[in-house]
Amino acid sequence: MILVLLGAPGVGKGTQAEFISREFGIPQISTGDILRKEVKEGSELGKQAKKYMDSGALVPDDVIVGMMEKRIKADDCRNGFILDGFPRTTDQAEALDKMLEKNSLTLDKVILIDVPKNEIVERLTGRRVCSKCGAVYHIKNNPPKTEGVCDKCGGELIQRDDDTKEVVENRLKVYEESTMPLIYYYKKANKLAKINGLGNIEKIFENIKAVLQ
Ligand code: AP5
Repeated sequence: MILVLLGAPGVGKGTQAEFISREFGIPQISTGDILRKEVKEGSELGKQAKKYMDSGALVPDDVIVGMMEKRIKADDCRNGFILDGFPRTTDQAEALDKMLEKNSLTLDKVILIDVPKNEIVERLTGRRVCSKCGAVYHIKNNPPKTEGVCDKCGGELIQRDDDTKEVVENRLKVYEESTMPLIYYYKKANKLAKINGLGNIEKIFENIKAVLQ
């Protein structure tokens, strides 16, 4: 199964991708996570990407497309994959169509997760991530057992550089301008399923599962 998770920053794409990955035994490919790893390692790609990410802008399409072309050919993608954060522009969506066609693969579904803007700002400014294993928490909605400490590995919980109120506002603006046109793109291709992203995380996952069966 090949899936795209679409939606504004903070709607829960990463959270739901983890559930889907476990349920269907296919990898979650998060462009944001790949880029953050490159930044942490101080690679050339990381240095180039950081400039864009810190302000909430998009990393250039050619960089992202090159990165994804390699990633979907990896062995763990043989039975399918979940794209979380890609595509984000019409050019990226067209590049994905070509990549899939070249590898005789078909996109099964695009899940659009929908959450109102005021809730998004609250979710992102309250998000904390583990600096060691990347586990995601929220100071109110999903707090760790001990403040500032990851339940899973004991690592320190930190706030992402792009989760400040100012950068979140810019990320939302970039989403509206560059990514929202993909809703129409995939609706036209008859691939789109819209899911309400408000409420209980497990219940949202049940609704996603219902769409996939
Ligand atoms: P990326 O990391 O992809 O960020 P994003 O799309 O902005 O998405 P997020 O990770 O912020 O949110 P999410 O939807 O995964 O929500 P989550 O599950 O964590 O990208 C970062 C940057 O990298 C971009 O700005 C860009 O610069 C660059 N980039 C990445 N891909 C690119 C591309 N294709 N092209 C160009 N540039 C690219 O949940 C958020 C919070 O809410 C958490 O605290 C969580 O616990 C909580 N939560 C989740 N579900 C619920 C719920 N149902 N109720 C209450 N709280 C909830």
